[in-house]
Amino acid sequence: MPNVVVVGTQWGDEGKGKIVDLLTDQARLVVRYQGGNNAGHTLVVGGKKFIFHLIPSGILHPDTLCLIGNGVVLDPQVFLTEVDNLKGRGIVIGPDNLRISERTQVIMPYHQRLDLAREQAKGAGKIGTTGRGIGPCYEDKVARRGIRMADLLDTDGFKAKLADILPEKNFYLEKFFLDKPFSLEEILTPYLAMGERLRPLVANVAVILEQAARQGKNILFEGAQGTHLDIDHGTYPYVTSSNPVAGGAATGAGVGPGQLHQVLGIVKAYTTRVGGGPFPTECLDKIGDHLVECGVEFGSTTGRRRRCGWLDAVVLKDAARLNGLTGLAITKLDVLTTLNPVKICVAYQVNGASRDTIPATLKELERCQPVFEELPGWTEDIRGVRRYQDLPVNTRRYLERVQELVGVPIQLVSVGPDREETIILQNPFTLNI
Ligand code: IMP
Repeated sequence: MPNVVVVGTQWGDEGKGKIVDLLTDQARLVVRYQGGNNAGHTLVVGGKKFIFHLIPSGILHPDTLCLIGNGVVLDPQVFLTEVDNLKGRGIVIGPDNLRISERTQVIMPYHQRLDLAREQAKGAGKIGTTGRGIGPCYEDKVARRGIRMADLLDTDGFKAKLADILPEKNFYLEKFFLDKPFSLEEILTPYLAMGERLRPLVANVAVILEQAARQGKNILFEGAQGTHLDIDHGTYPYVTSSNPVAGGAATGAGVGPGQLHQVLGIVKAYTTRVGGGPFPTECLDKIGDHLVECGVEFGSTTGRRRRCGWLDAVVLKDAARLNGLTGLAITKLDVLTTLNPVKICVAYQVNGASRDTIPATLKELERCQPVFEELPGWTEDIRGVRRYQDLPVNTRRYLERVQELVGVPIQLVSVGPDREETIILQNPFTLNI
């Protein structure tokens, strides 16, 4: 049985949560490999609503082991609140179904304060981060002054590291941002206490994954955010600070690239983006309003209204290349119902020439004008459709054109928010490797 990586192909919020939940039935292990509580998704199971930021939604499946990889940045307070909420709703949580890598970086209170202070100082030029301390935590990781899960479990070591780091953080907070400093004690005591609560869950995740692979158990690698928010390949600097692309699953979970057998790209049937940054197909008209309203396009982490626009095949082709996509899952197709025509951006026009790749500079990307292809829309309600051949002819035409433009087969189509509102053409877990 293959392992499957699930990645967002646009700017996040593609509806990965629902597809991951659907595929988790076939996965014995689910591992998150990057990002932190900047992500978020809501699941409705048996009429009950669950919101997840850090813990994989696989935790709702009793036989699934959920793992937090070393590539994640983990806020222990948020994590433990999520654990307590789930326990309060009758979900059993312990080392049998949830593990955190000992190498996972810990988001500290100064990371969040620096994230907010920096955004405020930037004013109009701000990135529009989620304000959760994600960027500053990854900065410290790369600068080799991060606190990892293993450090939280070592009282003397943690105290020494914190004593070393804090003066620099406080200098920056007080002198540059005119903000409040932190005392050593106000961090040390609560973080050591949280470390003790987390201790039973901390493990060598790479070893767990190796053993699982040897036993032929299949693994789902769950990406957060999306390809165009990738720190290397996204619309820099309007990106997150990690690697959501499929390759990030190898480094962020601790497996060799050969373990990443299938790569399923999640594609929302239109495009959305939260925060700042270029967005060539953005609709600032009533089409944009339709997409926000019908697609309920408000962030599940920050509640912000998402910017909306037509599907962009340039963005998708880039995602196919960068991730080595083997399949597509189209989500929220029902949101396009009643729009006529429906449009797909097939290229960009810039400086009198056409191009089908994304320029590296913001300056040039901002000059890109989308070249749209128009297709006839459909008015039929598609939410009850369960077989591909029962979709209206114009809906199929739209999907087939997307598949042709991206050059990757469509494996799943989501026609509504519920689990059942899905057309499965090919389950990636059942493919031969
Ligand atoms: P950060 O990840 O909080 O540093 O935010 C950097 C950029 O990524 C901002 O534009 C955020 O809105 C965006 N971002 C971060 N996480 C998500 C997500 O889960 N979905 C969509 N956008 C996100």
